[in-house]
Amino acid sequence: HRHVDNATPALIEDVIAGGDFHPIMPEYEDLTAYQARGGYDKLAQYRDGGDWEQVQDMLLSAGLRGLGGAGFPSGKKWGFVRAEAGPRYLAVNGDEGEPGTFKDRYHLEREPHVFLEGMLIAAWAVEADKCFIYMRDEYPAVLKLLRKEIAALEEAGIVEAGYIVLRRGAGAYICGEESAMIESIEGKRGIPRLRPPYVAQVGIFDRPTLVHNVETLHWVAMICREGPEVMNAVVHNERTGLRNYSVSGRVANPGVYLLPAGSTILDIIAAAGGMAEGHTFKAYQPGGPSSGLLPAHMNDVPLDFDTLQPHGTFIGSAAVVVLSDQDSARDAALNMLRFFESESCGQCTPCRVGCEKAVKLMQADTWDRELLTDLCEVMTDASICGLGQAAPNPIKLVMQHFSEEV
Ligand code: NAI
Ligand code: SF4
Repeated sequence: HRHVDNATPALIEDVIAGGDFHPIMPEYEDLTAYQARGGYDKLAQYRDGGDWEQVQDMLLSAGLRGLGGAGFPSGKKWGFVRAEAGPRYLAVNGDEGEPGTFKDRYHLEREPHVFLEGMLIAAWAVEADKCFIYMRDEYPAVLKLLRKEIAALEEAGIVEAGYIVLRRGAGAYICGEESAMIESIEGKRGIPRLRPPYVAQVGIFDRPTLVHNVETLHWVAMICREGPEVMNAVVHNERTGLRNYSVSGRVANPGVYLLPAGSTILDIIAAAGGMAEGHTFKAYQPGGPSSGLLPAHMNDVPLDFDTLQPHGTFIGSAAVVVLSDQDSARDAALNMLRFFESESCGQCTPCRVGCEKAVKLMQADTWDRELLTDLCEVMTDASICGLGQAAPNPIKLVMQHFSEEV
């Protein structure tokens, strides 16, 4: 967050207009460097008479799934959007707001053109009239470098001026929900829409819209450039593919680790240099607060799409947070619910009132398990979007696995 309270009016205006303030810039691969290693050759090849269904088949055979966290097969979305009459749009979800998730930023700050080429390949495939990139404002360096590189793409004639529209988020977690993001892109308050219809049918300005997460598009380009084997040749614990885990908490070296999708929490902790000194592994959050907490003894589950459902949770955006014997699972769950209470858009009662009620109940010395269980059921069943539906996960899992603390 930037603090503008004491800034000059000019700076405030500049910030509001998305202007040229001065974040510390990472060293990244610019357009010239990317082109020197064959960047945008695939896009040019496809635009010059390529068959979009062949590319779609390649994504499906690579097993690429939505890496924002939902894991929906990426190639299938192309088919849904293509089936609708134009004009069509593409929207990139760069509102990486799930606490503990920083894999999109990792790629954007190093090789943004891989993602941009993936985006333009997807836009070519669905014949999108425009691409909207919705980027979270908390990544000022990313916003600045994207502005510069989009201008470079226009100058190089790879896209027409105005084809890529960069929109800044304003710090609301809910704007990462795809339909709330679309409302925000349209200039309205970001609140989720009811679905169906899916955004593939009714998206930006009611037009069919292909929505992909930043990292998904990064892999679109990687698969097109290097073949589906770049993903499907990796098999571990009977799971196929690769995963960028954002690892934080009580590990020696927090960071983004590209590992086989079948990695267990022990593989991930080992990749992050083991536990931080003086800490003993106690619990972990597999995929952001929406995924709750699992105990250390559940350490042989591959952390991939589908594998955690039987345990009442999911991998989501693979935001792995490791807790130690010095942490309280109860406090962690309360913190997560405070986050949801603060970020609920307030549109529907089960979530707006449910989160607030849950926080109050979780502050008691002893949790009222019966009442909390009832509340969790109502929130899961009756909330409009994923925020309210998943918010009870930390409560349910802490009651199940850390009952001595509550
Ligand atoms: P979802 O499963 O409802 O949808 C996934 C995608 O598939 C959407 O684009 C949806 O439009 C599309 N889709 C699904 N069924 C479809 C159909 N029948 N026809 C056409 N399109 C269809 O999941 P949702 O709510 O979009 O995402 C939830 C995930 O997001 C969670 O796993 C959570 O972990 C993650 N998340 C990630 C964040 C981040 O910062 N990366 C932030 C918050 C949540
Ligand atoms: Fe808003 Fe929560 Fe309802 Fe989602 S579940 S629409 S965040 S109030």
